[in-house]
Amino acid sequence: MRILIKNGKIVTAADSYQADILIEDEKIVAIETNSAASADQVFDAAGRYVFPGAIDVHTHLDMPFGGTVTADDFTTGTTAAAAGGTTCIVDYALQTPGKTLGEALEAWHKRADGKCAIDYGFHVAVTDLNDAVLTEMPALINKGYPSFKVFMAYKGVFQVDDSTLLKVLKKSGEAGGLVLVHAENGDVIDVLCREMLAAGHTEPLYHALSRPPEAEEEAVNRFITMAQLSGAPAYIVHLSDAGALARVAEARLQGYPVYAETCPQYLFLDLDRYNEPNFGGAKYVMSPPLREAGNEEFLWSGLASGNLQVVASDHCSFNFKGQKDLGRGNFTKIPNGAPGLETRVQLLYDGGVDGGRFSINKFVDLVSTAPARLFGLYPQKGTIAAGSDADLVIFNPEAPFTFSQATQHQNVDYNPYEGYSGKGVPEQVFSRGALVIDNGKFVGKVGHGRFQPRKPFSGL
Ligand code: URP
Ligand code: ZN
Ligand code: ZN
Repeated sequence: MRILIKNGKIVTAADSYQADILIEDEKIVAIETNSAASADQVFDAAGRYVFPGAIDVHTHLDMPFGGTVTADDFTTGTTAAAAGGTTCIVDYALQTPGKTLGEALEAWHKRADGKCAIDYGFHVAVTDLNDAVLTEMPALINKGYPSFKVFMAYKGVFQVDDSTLLKVLKKSGEAGGLVLVHAENGDVIDVLCREMLAAGHTEPLYHALSRPPEAEEEAVNRFITMAQLSGAPAYIVHLSDAGALARVAEARLQGYPVYAETCPQYLFLDLDRYNEPNFGGAKYVMSPPLREAGNEEFLWSGLASGNLQVVASDHCSFNFKGQKDLGRGNFTKIPNGAPGLETRVQLLYDGGVDGGRFSINKFVDLVSTAPARLFGLYPQKGTIAAGSDADLVIFNPEAPFTFSQATQHQNVDYNPYEGYSGKGVPEQVFSRGALVIDNGKFVGKVGHGRFQPRKPFSGL
């Protein structure tokens, strides 16, 4: 099967130029001006950008959490991702205490294999370290799982202690892995939660007040210090706070391989959301929480300057009715997380490129190229080049959109960006040469998505 995409403006992290793209089966085979190649199907991309499929390296699909299971599974989640211009995700397999990392991966493969509309991979979260787990790590890196997650929060559930952090960093660094961290001080948060509940504060707002910026700043600082001690590269997920960003910037200035991602929710939403009436604030209960208005401009600057390298969604959807509800009367029982797989790319284009904060090349870097490089998928993914996978988005920068729960593909009963409108729509999305989205409609196949083993960490 040969597909020709004609007349589009190709955009990569490095440059933008007018050319045609020839796809043969799953791969890009040629990029040339005024192509006369024959093809089975031709798409006219005049007036459109063509950029590499976006990669979302932080998702939670079909994940048991907070006494329930996320609303999106691998089918609805990857379909929604495709609708938003994302063609590859990296989800988290969570170790069950007492079991191996291999068993966690086996369980997550069962959840995902045969059920995805786009390609996928896994990080693995270490929640219970022992010698056998340390021995497993190098073997997993060589099998295509080169990234390990540790949690400094969620006391009594996923949280690990400092000795675990250091040991995981050392082993991962020696073996060619990258350690990802949820950086909030879980012990401090635990005390504050108890104090607030004891004082009768049960509403969603207290989720945010019990997780202050200082809890994130302290954990980021501690984790970076341990990364420096171990010499290992380190990556902070869902960084939300200006003070934490300053610590990352300082370490990078000193030459340490410290990387960080932020998420659209910290760029577009703020603390005031927790005051939505009728328990509506529960829709925004996530960790770290939304911050004070004004904080987001520091994050936008961090993206523009390069101190933040990736924008991921941290998609972790729970229905308002029946799931978020579990925390009426006790904010600590509200399942943590919010949907965002489908809206990530358009939000970042709208706020970043249309908003004049950075170039379209920087945008491509943040949503596709840098994640591909950091997580061992480049140049198979994350760019437009002969030989790369034909994961492509034909994007109309003039087309208007309005986000709404009523029209989304995400399988959840609300959209945190309900009513948000802007410009820039992924009109056609290709996953390894297969058209999966055509003018907002899913036209792909569940099961087309394939597990992508990733290469060891090699920098950015
Ligand atoms: O609240 C969040 N972020 N839920 C998902 C799990 C995590 O901490 O990333
Ligand atoms: Zn987290
Ligand atoms: Zn997460």
